[in-house]
Amino acid sequence: MDDLITCENLVKIYSSTASRDHKGIEVVALQGLDLTVAQGEMIGIVGESGSGKSSLLNILGGLDRPSAGKVLVAGSNLLEMSEEELNTYRLQQVGFVWQQTTRNLTPYLSALENVEMPIRINRTAEDQCRQRAVQLLEMTGLGDRLHHLPGQLSGGEQQRTAIAVALANQPNLILADEPTGELDTANSIKIYEILRKINRELGATIIIVSHDPGISQYVDRVVLIRDGKTSTETVRITPGIEAHDLLAYTSADYEELLMLDNSGRVQIPSEMLERMNIGGRVRVEVKAEGILLKPVEGHARSALSGERLSLEQSIYMEEEPLEEAVKVSLAQRFINLLQSRKK
Ligand SMILES: Nc1ncnc2c1ncn2[C@@H]1O[C@H](COP(=O)(O)OP(=O)(O)OP(=O)(O)O)[C@@H](O)[C@H]1O
Ligand SMILES: [Mg+2]
Repeated sequence: MDDLITCENLVKIYSSTASRDHKGIEVVALQGLDLTVAQGEMIGIVGESGSGKSSLLNILGGLDRPSAGKVLVAGSNLLEMSEEELNTYRLQQVGFVWQQTTRNLTPYLSALENVEMPIRINRTAEDQCRQRAVQLLEMTGLGDRLHHLPGQLSGGEQQRTAIAVALANQPNLILADEPTGELDTANSIKIYEILRKINRELGATIIIVSHDPGISQYVDRVVLIRDGKTSTETVRITPGIEAHDLLAYTSADYEELLMLDNSGRVQIPSEMLERMNIGGRVRVEVKAEGILLKPVEGHARSALSGERLSLEQSIYMEEEPLEEAVKVSLAQRFINLLQSRKK
């Protein structure tokens, strides 16, 4: 599959001026993020609040420009586009669905008129415009709600209308920022199923930012963003668990992989470093099965809360079947993340 999106070393810094001393405050939202998304892929993005998920989506959607780095979508470098080119890109190549139902729809237009509006802006002939809008609303299950105003639709119906609006100009890329954030589980599942259908039938590439544990059932992979960088990637290795049956997930259903950036850096989860008592330096050995990182005397992990291991203990633990331990512990982290989100 060809890549639709390539982000390399993406940096986003927000600057604002503090009111009292007029000193600039800078927030580094993305700190050298790398991400590749293939044409036709559907991925989930998860991460703590403030980790940079929306910042990334805004950049991919051409709503905001990165401070540095490279972002290619379908071969075009978004950083080099003029304002006018970016406007065309937003109108023709991307569809958005936001968390707040009110942000997606114009309140005084019917569902049909909401979908028609972006098609009209693209100067499509009147009859085609109506026909296409009806088709899209039928596709999202709203064929019998065409003339309802957003206020007369349920939250789930509003989000499904928003998906139809996002699809209006046949975009190649759909970006959804917590589209189910205001919905219950049943309605969230409907949204994921519709997005999956759009992905399969129309071939659109879809990126969904989510706090919803059910997401992993519907996407090809889940990427975790941590401190403004892509950190790990999780793929489901066993099919068939019902999305709403969270208790059915076990770590054996997922494989979580650490992502390497272009310079070969990986972010090793702190639990692992703590477990092995690895601090500021690490000894690297190349083995037949892979690369082994070992603690170094004098560079133990500095005091953190919780129990720490001595160097002897960590070396002893290394003699356990390490490969299995690491695999389970990575996948377990993902499960823990999902379950903590559920609460
Ligand atoms: N317009 C802005 N001006 C200044 N700082 C901002 C702006 N937008 C985001 N930030 C900061 O950038 C960081 C990343 O924000 P972002 O909205 O990308 O996080 P997020 O992962 O989407 O979080 P959430 O899950 O809460 O939506 C945060 O520290 C946030 O406060
Ligand atoms: Mg956000």
